[in-house]
Amino acid sequence: MRYQLAPIYCRPWLLNGLTLKLIESHYENNYGGALRRLNAITEQLESLDFAKTPAHVLNGLKREELVALNSTLLHELYFASLGGNGQPTTGMSEILARDFGSLERWRAEFRAMGYALDGGSGWVLLTYVPRDRRLINQYASAHSQSIASGVPILALDMYEHAYHMDFGANARAYVDTFFRNLDWPALEKRCEDAQTVPPPRLLEQPEFGDLQGIGVEEVKEMLAAGKPVQVIDVRPRAAVTRGQDIVEGVQWRDPEQFPQWVGELNKSEPVVVYCSYGFHVGCKTAIKLRDAGFDAKYMNSGHLGMKAIGSKLKIQNT
Ligand SMILES: [Fe+2]
Repeated sequence: MRYQLAPIYCRPWLLNGLTLKLIESHYENNYGGALRRLNAITEQLESLDFAKTPAHVLNGLKREELVALNSTLLHELYFASLGGNGQPTTGMSEILARDFGSLERWRAEFRAMGYALDGGSGWVLLTYVPRDRRLINQYASAHSQSIASGVPILALDMYEHAYHMDFGANARAYVDTFFRNLDWPALEKRCEDAQTVPPPRLLEQPEFGDLQGIGVEEVKEMLAAGKPVQVIDVRPRAAVTRGQDIVEGVQWRDPEQFPQWVGELNKSEPVVVYCSYGFHVGCKTAIKLRDAGFDAKYMNSGHLGMKAIGSKLKIQNT
């Protein structure tokens, strides 16, 4: 395959405080150079016989491919970030307030990250993370530290080639100039696009219909807050015997002995049950409880999830 050059997104002659010489050099030499390297690496990879290629050759090429590919993507985003009048849009201000507390708070962090690369190098990015449905400011050093699954929507290039020609060593003045030229309406549109990316799909267990699951954090919060909830560990006896532990404040009940203990539960309080990993035993028990008239849910990551979030454990004998 051959990667195609993207036209420069901003109108260079409209930029305020960044010279044509700097922008042209940046586009031709650094963006163009990355694209040319990417195509050369791709051609080389396509010609390899992987059965005969030494590991160090493949490792080197794949690393360089990642660096060159990210460099092209981030440079395209950098030029698309510029060309505006620096006036935040209402929509973007609201989104930044949602994720950072306020527009000012977001700007303070992003700007400080740029200042902090004075004398260093790398990218400062504003990235949308679909899993968390929120934006985060991040560094991407060496072009290769982008957040997995993240969609970067704003890029500040802090490599020296991005500013030295106009600002010398005054990286702070360059960062301030970047903000003056920020194209907020374009940023808002990219943010709208990014927010249409769905989070990763959750595990589906169609055999249990529309049985409601609940996350481990929510259960832990309910326990800590002393809310009226009956949390029951229903791991199979063999699993408890193997692990010999249980979360503090939780009762273990043998799922095989359901009829013997169901009568001990209080129908006026919700019930949460979980097994080892959040699959069949917990789901089946929750369904039995619901059939018996309880407001019951299963906890979707089980005892394993409780341990993964660092819950306090105690010894449990069976
Ligand atoms: Fe650059």
